[in-house]
Amino acid sequence: MTLSLDFTNMMGAALPHGAGITGEQLAAATAAFADAHARVHARTDDLGFLTLPTHDALRDATLAVAEQVRGRFTDVLLLGIGGSALGPIALRTALCPPGWNALDAAARGGRPRLHVLDNVDPATMSATLARLDLAQTLVLVISKSGGTVETMAQYLIVREALAAAVGEEAARGHLVFITDPEVGALRKIARAEGITTLDIPANVGGRFSVLSPVGMLPAALIGIDVRALLAGAADVMTRAASADLSTNLPGTFAVLQHLADTRHGRSVQVLMPYADPLRDLALWFVQLWAESLGKHTPDGTPVGPTPLPAVGATDQHSQVQLFMEGPLDKTVTFITVRGREADGPIPARHADIAELSYLAGHTLGELIDIEQRATAGALAARGRFNATLAIDTIDAWHLGALMQTFALATAYAGELYGVNAFDQPGVELGKQFAYAMLGRAGSDQARVEWDALPTPDPRFRV
Ligand code: PA5
Repeated sequence: MTLSLDFTNMMGAALPHGAGITGEQLAAATAAFADAHARVHARTDDLGFLTLPTHDALRDATLAVAEQVRGRFTDVLLLGIGGSALGPIALRTALCPPGWNALDAAARGGRPRLHVLDNVDPATMSATLARLDLAQTLVLVISKSGGTVETMAQYLIVREALAAAVGEEAARGHLVFITDPEVGALRKIARAEGITTLDIPANVGGRFSVLSPVGMLPAALIGIDVRALLAGAADVMTRAASADLSTNLPGTFAVLQHLADTRHGRSVQVLMPYADPLRDLALWFVQLWAESLGKHTPDGTPVGPTPLPAVGATDQHSQVQLFMEGPLDKTVTFITVRGREADGPIPARHADIAELSYLAGHTLGELIDIEQRATAGALAARGRFNATLAIDTIDAWHLGALMQTFALATAYAGELYGVNAFDQPGVELGKQFAYAMLGRAGSDQARVEWDALPTPDPRFRV
């Protein structure tokens, strides 16, 4: 069980005119990384995600809740947004059979469907409520702060519908809150009403919380092996104990992406799994990388890479044109899978048609892998930075390892850029403006600022 990162195609030797990262740049970055590594690993007390893989008490509490509700519900409805939703979605897509929610109960092994509402589009909400039998539904309300406007609005609507469906008293038994141990509206409600609640440790932020109950409870409910997920993540932590970049894969990823951006202008960083089950992992990564690294440094300089999701081979017929010939501002990190499931030969039909006959005897797994190698080579041939992250197979262990790899890489990259990877001050102003328009108490100052903004100018409207 391993992860490996081949970054040959990021380096000068592999790219035309030696245009890649140089040995000297990498050597200098290695020294800077040692400091970044020391700073991150010295913070185990306030960076809770570092110890989530070995937080046995939290894992056991999560599994106990999963056991408590086992067999009682056909559906789980998850309410959350951002880091409170993207991880569970990525885990479901990666580790459940495709089309999980469309499978019958037997094909799901008696496990519930998992629906995630991660937006406040009324059309999605009403369609979801119309489809679900709430009497058979467990509702997970996930919010670290316990007060996020979108999640609270969802909660109010769903709670009302639950109460109408099963009665006020029984509705409480259909709810599990996952939130901060002390603060926030959800915690207040849980205390007042005795609602089952799991903690997101105070020192674990939203986008770093997938290995807390945020990801682990939904995962356990739909039959994902939580212990294996955590074991994969724990393995990453062991390998990352040293600042030696030859063993520290998250460190190598962070250093390369940082160098590519700051020394070579490759500020758009594509994550491109060649595997459908990993599509949503790329979206989870986008939030992690963007919200953590897109910041002002202490002297006010705006920095940060722009993550971009893609999927192979599908995007070879879409974004790859841009990656090949568009601005020289991108890195592409492929994820490949060494062992493909359910692979079989492509039939030898139409032997007389040259456009088809060469496929006979090859498998789809071979085709997708060859296409990835071909794309990587083509990009390198045109001076386009790329690297390949390979995993043995798509299972819980490797998902845990991948997620902890990216989380740790994000923390290291925050140090390399000189920003705090764990806050998100840039989303605050928009929130305050929304509160002001919704009439939330305490938003008067935002209202003043909002009212001072220019109103739409008819000259600039078509
Ligand atoms: O990563 C983050 O901190 C954010 O993206 C949060 O996950 C998101 O804003 C939701 O916050 P909360 O979990 O507090 O509802």
